[in-house]
Amino acid sequence: MNVPSRPPGADPALETVAAYGRIALAWRAARQEGTGEPVGRLPSFVEGLAPGARVLDLGCGCGEPVAAWLSERGFTVLGVDASPALISLARSTVPEARFLTGDMRSVRLEGRFQAVVAWDSLFHLPRDQHPQMLRRIAAWLEPEGRLLASFGGSDHPGFRAPMLGETFFYSGFEPRHTLRLLDWAGLEVEHWEISDASSLGHLTVLARRRDEPTTDRPGGPEGERE
Ligand SMILES: C[S@@+](CC[C@H](N)C(=O)[O-])C[C@H]1O[C@@H](n2cnc3c(N)ncnc32)[C@H](O)[C@@H]1O
Repeated sequence: MNVPSRPPGADPALETVAAYGRIALAWRAARQEGTGEPVGRLPSFVEGLAPGARVLDLGCGCGEPVAAWLSERGFTVLGVDASPALISLARSTVPEARFLTGDMRSVRLEGRFQAVVAWDSLFHLPRDQHPQMLRRIAAWLEPEGRLLASFGGSDHPGFRAPMLGETFFYSGFEPRHTLRLLDWAGLEVEHWEISDASSLGHLTVLARRRDEPTTDRPGGPEGERE
């Protein structure tokens, strides 16, 4: 279902968060039975991080598998998610991590992180909010701090799709545009790949924060999309 524009006041990301809340237990069960992504990527992602390094799990869901994996290896994990139901599950599943209920677009976090994981959460935001969200992530990272993130892999202003009886909003840019946004935000892309190219695509990115974001332009990089 296409979503060309938003009526005033409507926030598809928060509608989606509410939907996650209604299916919290079923979502956790589905996640446990699923591919386990991105756990296979985590060993190389954390390689070289100091013991106990601070890692932010942004849009952490029920805390599994990412926060759990990181906590088991002694990292100091903060999980943030806007769904109170999922945060409650995360707290009981991963008691050694800290979890905060908050909207990633406005939550205030203290201190910096050596790494951020934002797995399958950014694509729930309207895409005009992606540039500033990436700037926020860059600001949370220490210089040289690393990001593992996934995005929608196609140029789509917004669509809704069903899952477990509820409806979820997604948006995305064509991959090269997302890579440009990351660069604009001060995040140097070290690796990217597209999976699931047969459907609407799924872009995985590993990036590292440069010393400072490159520009003060407020809205994101201008210009053409390829
Ligand atoms: C597909 S789930 C992924 C959860 C987790 N990262 C994982 O890998 O299982 C997307 C998550 O993003 C969260 N989310 C979506 N929009 C958000 C927002 N604006 N702020 C915080 N969390 C958000 C949802 O509540 C949900 O838990």
